[in-house]
Amino acid sequence: MPTPRSALSPDTIWDFLCNLKQTTAQSEIPESATSIGWHADSGLDFDSQSGSAVLTKRNDAGDWVPAEGLPSAEWDMLVLYLALATVSKEKPFITAHLGQSVDGRIAASNGSSHYVTGPENILHLHRMRALSDAVVVGARTVELDDPQLTTRKVSGPDPVRIIIDPTNRISINHKIFAEADTPTLVVCDKRLVGDTSASSSKLRILGLDSDEGRISPKLIVDSLFAMGLTSLFIEGGGLTVSRFLQAGVLHRLQVTVAPVLIGDGIPSITLHKIFDLSDALRPPCRTSFFGQDVMFNFDMSQ
Ligand SMILES: NC(=O)c1ccc[n+]([C@@H]2O[C@H](COP(=O)([O-])OP(=O)(O)OC[C@H]3O[C@@H](n4cnc5c(N)ncnc54)[C@H](OP(=O)(O)O)[C@@H]3O)[C@@H](O)[C@H]2O)c1
Repeated sequence: MPTPRSALSPDTIWDFLCNLKQTTAQSEIPESATSIGWHADSGLDFDSQSGSAVLTKRNDAGDWVPAEGLPSAEWDMLVLYLALATVSKEKPFITAHLGQSVDGRIAASNGSSHYVTGPENILHLHRMRALSDAVVVGARTVELDDPQLTTRKVSGPDPVRIIIDPTNRISINHKIFAEADTPTLVVCDKRLVGDTSASSSKLRILGLDSDEGRISPKLIVDSLFAMGLTSLFIEGGGLTVSRFLQAGVLHRLQVTVAPVLIGDGIPSITLHKIFDLSDALRPPCRTSFFGQDVMFNFDMSQ
């Protein structure tokens, strides 16, 4: 009987995922490969040619899933990030996340949101950023939260930062315009931009059609995809995530619930009224635990 190998550390699994993402982005995963492992010296190992730890296999649908019999900590991490690390460049993959209180608030009523969820969930957000081509937020998140949206807590690239700001009102004094080498893109009503090409190498304006101040999430996704931004991470706030959800463009919806009651505050997801629970959304769901927080990871693609 082969000796069981010792479990790989989260850092090693993370190195594997980052390498996988980069290799997928460069279309360098051999089409014939049915399994991928990780070798401490040589990195990714297709079909176990160098006797590495096999971490993922292709299922019948051609998707990469965790290999059978992995230690549970490895399996938990792989099941969470493999889909994102192996996003095909041929079609968009959109994930949204909100961290909320048990009473459904993502921030206090003055916009204070540091932090609703715990450090383990914040680490998850940084991992999601590193594995995504772009991170998207609504204008009010930039106004109230002044985030940087960079990948600071894990190794990996910063995503392109995208603000949906239909009236192009956000001041350029916010941190998002000052930080990092990665570009920031402002999506606004096209009537407000004379020239929709680059404003500078780090700040770009994308003008799109809008209807009474609303820009179709599908149009946003398609326009970003045309720019080569395939995997999008919609990081809030509640209004922005709700509009992408309502438009039916999400592949995953992640809602992390923290054991806290905020009371009056900014709401998480808000959808149209229903009058019968048979009309409620009940997508397939997997749960993950981050410290005391519980994340409901809905598969919206079916
Ligand atoms: N706990 C968390 O996970 C989390 C995450 C992110 C943010 N937050 C907090 O959430 C709060 C902000 O959330 P929020 O729900 O009030 O606002 P938000 O989603 O951040 O921003 C909403 C605004 O973005 C613009 N927008 C978004 N999608 C659009 C579309 N499809 N078409 C046109 N405009 C669009 C609109 O700007 P206009 O107003 O110009 O119409 C809209 O009012 C902040 O306090 C922030 O700190 C919490």
